[in-house]
Amino acid sequence: MFEALTEQPPDKIIALGQAFRSDPRQDKIDLGVGVYRNAEGVTPIMRAVKSAETQLLATETTKAYTGMLGDPVYREALTDLILGPGVHAERRATAATPGGTGAVRQGFELVMMARPGATVWVSDPTWPNHTSILKHLKIETKTYRYFDAATGGVDFDGMMADLAGIGPDDVVLLHGCCHNPTGANLDAGQWAAVTEHLEKTGALPFVDIAYQGFGDGLEADAAGLRHLVAGVPEAIIAASCSKNFGIYRERTGLLLALGDAAGRDRLQSNLFYLNRQNYSFPPDHGARLVQMILTDDALRADWARELEDVRTGMLALRKQLAEELRQRTNSDRFDFIAEHRGMFSRLGTSPEKVETLRREHGIYMVADSRMNIAGLNARTVPVLAEAIVAAGI
Ligand code: LMR
Repeated sequence: MFEALTEQPPDKIIALGQAFRSDPRQDKIDLGVGVYRNAEGVTPIMRAVKSAETQLLATETTKAYTGMLGDPVYREALTDLILGPGVHAERRATAATPGGTGAVRQGFELVMMARPGATVWVSDPTWPNHTSILKHLKIETKTYRYFDAATGGVDFDGMMADLAGIGPDDVVLLHGCCHNPTGANLDAGQWAAVTEHLEKTGALPFVDIAYQGFGDGLEADAAGLRHLVAGVPEAIIAASCSKNFGIYRERTGLLLALGDAAGRDRLQSNLFYLNRQNYSFPPDHGARLVQMILTDDALRADWARELEDVRTGMLALRKQLAEELRQRTNSDRFDFIAEHRGMFSRLGTSPEKVETLRREHGIYMVADSRMNIAGLNARTVPVLAEAIVAAGI
């Protein structure tokens, strides 16, 4: 039967990592997959995570199943982190998922069950796996304009024009913060306008928040999303702990659906059903660490401090890169890099120039010129700036 299978196209982010690993050059620089690295080029285990893990190792007495939806304390604590403590408590249906990708996938499946034939609108561009999963699920997908390559900012007029005709059969996928791949984000006024439009048209917002704490801070990064869910009757949120807890391989995420209080139990039963059909019990280790950290004042404070150091470190790298490029090009055309937030910025150059950076300089970024700022350090920033100029970008 397998002869009927056709070769799948490579995932461009994952394939880039493989190409990087097989490059023998010592001075190569990996700005591909979104993983934070410190000044030594290491993705560290956060202090609070290590402490929680040590504690867990000493106290855990069983590996029996947890609940089908994950531990309720984990779900509550993470939901509080996203929405604010107790906010919309009576409307929340939640399920622990394997990573943010698991939540995205389950969220799309929830849409299919609730409204077969719905159209999902994604930003142009978006994280490539969004469109890949939608295609796999055969969900009709449309794009709305988002990134203005000329300014490096959001093309908000284009976005609103493209979403002008949406209605109750439409789902609009938004990035909660730190837009991937561009780094360009909606401001408070734009979130308010989007909220009003969704409320008016009856379209369903689906917010993917994978980088809370990596942009302007834990609270600020959730502000747009919080405003949105206060203004619309229903929403789906997919959250990831991969980045802000640095537990990438533990696959720790959350699917959160908000409806009216009367329908909450029904919604919750559908999340239970989806977990059972897809993988049964969600992974526990990462979720338990997150739960321990968020419910312990000392661990939580230490985690928030370290996350803040990571965030401000990335901002400093952004400033340094913009400044190095300003000096070398004698222009302000790369200043947008300092304005962007999160791990990524889209440099705004052709796949050919990206290939030149790889071939001539051993610098790896995604072909659409998305670079992982968190893959840089103070020593490699000038190397990158020099290479960008040498490649004629
Ligand atoms: C990325 O965009 O690099 C990250 O979200 C990791 C991934 O799974 O693609």
